[in-house]
Amino acid sequence: MKVVITKDYTEMCKLASRIFAAEITLKPDCVLGLATGSTPVGMYKELVEMYNEHRVDFSQVKTVNLDEYAGLSGDNDQSYRYFMNHNLFDHININKENTNVPNGTAADLEAECERYEQVVASMGGVDVQLLGIGNNGHIAFNEPCEEFPEKTHVVNLTQNTIEANARFFASMDDVPKKALTMGIGTIMKAKKIVLLANGAKKAQTIYDTVYGPITPKVPASILRLHPDVTIFVDEEAGALLKK
Ligand code: F6R
Repeated sequence: MKVVITKDYTEMCKLASRIFAAEITLKPDCVLGLATGSTPVGMYKELVEMYNEHRVDFSQVKTVNLDEYAGLSGDNDQSYRYFMNHNLFDHININKENTNVPNGTAADLEAECERYEQVVASMGGVDVQLLGIGNNGHIAFNEPCEEFPEKTHVVNLTQNTIEANARFFASMDDVPKKALTMGIGTIMKAKKIVLLANGAKKAQTIYDTVYGPITPKVPASILRLHPDVTIFVDEEAGALLKK
């Protein structure tokens, strides 16, 4: 695992975006694994800027997102499909048919998880997977638990995550309590993984991820067993690593 402490959020986003741009340049039809949340917004802006400057071409790129809230349709402005369209896909020349987000309104959520797992497999796996990290160490919506979940599954979000997500919703009652998420096994199959974290709230979980025991109680800790992971943190998120 490689850890890069950047001077600030802007530098973190710039460095991470270069890894994605390099992958697209080397393999124009690559499969990118994408994340939502506050953390990657700046990196997506960088990619849009590179696209506008004709430095990167998304026309053959395929994408798979990590997760989606159960019960929210793609046109709900809090859904992750909406987030991806709004922050990235609407601003680049990607073919939307090549972009995949789990369907949060599928009648049978378990069947949707199976379908999604097949979609990822049928694309030949993910070339570069982007991850954020929850304050509690979750990656995608794999919450702290007793065993690492392997495949795409329906998850009950923890109170910690529901509270962290509440900032985007009008009231606590509106915050979804369930989500569909890629499993840890699905994520670990990616050839390369890039994890981003910024802000003091992430400092402890970044420390635990890098130095603590490898345990499903800190889901991101499993990344230490992956052969090609780079963690980019700003000074605040990396503060405990330096002591
Ligand atoms: C989002 C996702 C989540 C977030 C995490 C951090 O697709 O999978 O694991 O990456 O909750 O969220 P932010 O970036 O909002 O702090």
